[in-house]
Amino acid sequence: SPSDPDLVERARAAKARLGDKVFVLGHHYQRDEVIQFADVTGDSFKLARDAAARPEAEYIVFCGVHFMAESADILTSDDQKVVLPDLAAGCSMADMATAEQVAECWDVLTEAGIAEQVVPVSYMNSSADIKAFTGKHGGTICTSSNARRALDWAFEQGEKVLFLPDQHLGRNTAVRDMGMSLDDCVVYNPHKPNGGLTAEQLRAAKMILWRGHCSVHGRFSLDSVDDVRARIPGVNVLVHPECKHEVVAAADYVGSTEYIIKTLEAAPAGSKWAIGTELNLVRRLANRFAPEGKEIVFLDRTVCFCSTMNRIDLPHLVWALESLADGNLVNRIEVDKETEAFAKLALERMLALP
Ligand code: 13P
Ligand code: SF4
Repeated sequence: SPSDPDLVERARAAKARLGDKVFVLGHHYQRDEVIQFADVTGDSFKLARDAAARPEAEYIVFCGVHFMAESADILTSDDQKVVLPDLAAGCSMADMATAEQVAECWDVLTEAGIAEQVVPVSYMNSSADIKAFTGKHGGTICTSSNARRALDWAFEQGEKVLFLPDQHLGRNTAVRDMGMSLDDCVVYNPHKPNGGLTAEQLRAAKMILWRGHCSVHGRFSLDSVDDVRARIPGVNVLVHPECKHEVVAAADYVGSTEYIIKTLEAAPAGSKWAIGTELNLVRRLANRFAPEGKEIVFLDRTVCFCSTMNRIDLPHLVWALESLADGNLVNRIEVDKETEAFAKLALERMLALP
């Protein structure tokens, strides 16, 4: 839907008043009305890297979700302030692993006698506390664009990986990309005593997957894939690795949001695509590539937007930019120093992956 012209003008004016003092980052799942004001757009990896690319900017306005803004704060200098235009923009997956639960899990692994063999690999979609736990225990962060490299690295450091919080990205990477078997993976359920696992199961496993998932990507099903193939002969199915294993196994291409965009840019005219990822991005790509004769549809019309990504709308962005231009620092995301030090260790291990 077209943006309110008055709000567009106010956003433009506030940004102009701030000049080089502000740097706006936008994740690919953001609304069109917001993404038009991003100085840089990207997937989670690219945004983490680019957040540190403008040290002269006093304010980093992060159009994305809370864990991304925390990561930007960790990776930028102390005098740069990271602002999230709506504090309610969280991530249900990140909320599925709390610091207490993860500490308890580590106790379970210790009691099973395997903690020393385990390297934690945490998905970017996790709180700063979880990233700090990861750094403290010799692990790394990964995103959907480097999960394979992160796991290769982790298996050079130890024999087992605790992957959290997204069981699907962990399983898909291990099984689809690295040739492990489904039996090499166990699922740790933080709501059950001992994660619902016996010490024998933990000792036998190579991948200990946290029982978390994305509430958006988790809704694509094998039926969605079968239906779209029946409806559109010759369609290429391209999905995000946060989808369930059976969906990923049935797809033709799998990758991060940045990969999805690059794949469609390189696709020939006349090709047909069904995309399994967040709807704002799929719609934008469908509109962008229609004039080139590429037909792009949403993999499952019953799946909807990521409601927390959508919290950042033009009114919130205008409010944040105008407040900053008026000298009022609003909605700052600031990670405490101790958490930051260990979380940074884990993030820097990711940035140093080959
Ligand atoms: P990427 O942009 O890294 O593919 O991540 C997708 C996502 O779910 C972010 O919340
Ligand atoms: Fe979290 Fe899923 Fe939304 Fe990404 S799409 S922010 S993983 S709920």
